[in-house]
Amino acid sequence: MEAYSIFGGKPLSGEASAFGAKNAVLPLLAASVLLKEPVRLTGCPDLADVRNMLKLLESLGCRTAREGMDLTIEAGGAQEHVMPESLSKQMRSSIFMLGPVLSRFGRADFTYPGGCEIGLRPIDLHLQGLRALGAQIEEKHGHIICQGKLRGAAIHMDYPSVGATENVMMAAVCASGDTVIHNAAREPEIVDLANFLNTCGAKVRGAGTGTIIIQGGAKLHGCSYAPLTDRICAGTLLVAGAATKGDVYVRDARAQDMQALLAKLKEAGCGITVYSEGIRVRMSRRLKAVRRLETAPFPGFPTDMQAQMMALLTLAKGTSVVAENVFENRMSHAAELTRMGADIQVSGRIAVVRGVEMLTGARVTTRDLRAGAALCVAALAAQGESVIENISLIDRGHDHLERTLSALGGQIKRIELNE
Ligand code: UD1
Repeated sequence: MEAYSIFGGKPLSGEASAFGAKNAVLPLLAASVLLKEPVRLTGCPDLADVRNMLKLLESLGCRTAREGMDLTIEAGGAQEHVMPESLSKQMRSSIFMLGPVLSRFGRADFTYPGGCEIGLRPIDLHLQGLRALGAQIEEKHGHIICQGKLRGAAIHMDYPSVGATENVMMAAVCASGDTVIHNAAREPEIVDLANFLNTCGAKVRGAGTGTIIIQGGAKLHGCSYAPLTDRICAGTLLVAGAATKGDVYVRDARAQDMQALLAKLKEAGCGITVYSEGIRVRMSRRLKAVRRLETAPFPGFPTDMQAQMMALLTLAKGTSVVAENVFENRMSHAAELTRMGADIQVSGRIAVVRGVEMLTGARVTTRDLRAGAALCVAALAAQGESVIENISLIDRGHDHLERTLSALGGQIKRIELNE
């Protein structure tokens, strides 16, 4: 098993760059199934989830290629509508394929998806949306078998699910007739998907608001597109800079996508400077507790930054309350942070974090991607050595995080553990 060995206690300083966001790239890869012409996505980091999605595309008959950070997908020859169980189970985002495959072939056969252990993560909203577009869906023995010719509809999402909104958008662009999604998710990645689809000839309006209108019947053509930069990777680097009392500039981080995080970093006493091409964080004193940090759909505080921010708050002066409202089981990092000397009490979805003067290195393990990033933040700020196990989960969303952190002066190495 691979692990990180981190010697902490040194301020991070310098410049890093944000690249294409995992959560933007994955739906765009799925959407490329809708097109018979090649798609080129530029600036895509080499992430485990992206590699898996490419394998899934290939299993359907698409051709894919990577040249540096650019990906090309040719779905013209795709002919398969059955998604292999082994790949679907490895990642939650395989569910994105349902809408595009169904739209393209009139059929899709799929296994319930896997992913991080952060909650039940049902897919009822995805299926509800596709049913509203006319899909007949049968669920049996862990398989989901969909068929039908899709036609536009008015859909109300019971909850603004990011993935379900994206799935319905992708299914609706080539359906006959128009679709309106009410209570749609408003995340920047939704806007990015709409921009990509529109670049390919679709007519999607309202993305970024609660109502998205999709004119169906689009004839899509290939394109070259630069996905949105990763607000979560960028945010993680800013939080690491702040937690280590450092000075970090993240080029291409987009402040407009990160207001909730930047507000909390300011509340914690960090100096934040927003430039047209990036964001800088500076911290030299002790951090301050924040009164309440509650995760919520965009533009609320992102659940994907909750763990990293909790790691930072363990060192703040005073008591912070962290509430996780998006996923029901996303506090696994609290116990690991406690092993490093943090004072955290968790009750259900609420954590009370009493700031301590110092964390100390420890052997810890991660159960999900963002929790792993949080443990890196804590280990970089802690005194002594930490070993973080199970880092393949971190690789799902970070392209060699150790290289980025080393370039900022962090003492971090990827090591092989023998047990
Ligand atoms: C996406 C992101 C993930 C992020 C999350 C919330 C990608 C690839 N992943 O995940 O990093 O943490 O948004 O910002 O973009 N739900 C249902 N039924 C459904 C779908 C979702 O009950 O059919 C629930 C989920 O269990 C969860 C909540 O809705 O409690 C939010 O999930 P959703 O917005 O769908 O997140 P994902 O698209 O899975």
